[in-house]
Amino acid sequence: MKFLEDNIERVLLSKEEIADKISVMAQEMGAYYQGREVVLVCILKGSVTFFSDLARELSFPVTYDFMCVSSYGNGAVSGGSVRINKDLSVDITDKHVVIVEDILDTGNTLFALFEQLKSRRPASLKLCCLLDKPERRQKPVEADFVGFCISDEFVVGYGLDYGEQYRQLPYVGVLKRSVYEK
Ligand code: PRP
Repeated sequence: MKFLEDNIERVLLSKEEIADKISVMAQEMGAYYQGREVVLVCILKGSVTFFSDLARELSFPVTYDFMCVSSYGNGAVSGGSVRINKDLSVDITDKHVVIVEDILDTGNTLFALFEQLKSRRPASLKLCCLLDKPERRQKPVEADFVGFCISDEFVVGYGLDYGEQYRQLPYVGVLKRSVYEK
């Protein structure tokens, strides 16, 4: 994938490191859910790769669902808001739900999404994130299952994009400054 790799400063998390971490996260989740059925929600598009690898490591029954949301950002209406571009296809009332995200950054998207989903009265609602950038947080959101806490660098790959590119890289890499400061 040389056409993408030329723009990568360095590999932050290798394919192997990610796979090992996902096994550990899947075990933690297995211990928590103890065989109960869970609705696993993939937040499009960045989470697709993580979602698909995580789901295949889980030792309890899950159903899949998908949402596509965009945050109105910081200056939004009271408490922040989220635009639902594609909603869930199932009713989550009384279901155990896990939101699967690639990255938790400012928390604006997830904070608003959680407010929306809580109003649907799931039996439980948890957040599972591969990457967490705690120093960027603007809203009080914590993931229940976290892969890696990372510093504030521009990361792409393993689902994460810059201008919709780089999602197909099998690892998480730091993008060269020259790419986004052009
Ligand atoms: C990313 C990520 C979260 C959100 C987190 O999605 O998947 O949904 O940003 O950022 P926040 O904590 O600052 O709200 P993005 O909007 O980049 O869309 P994508 O998944 O389609 O790439």
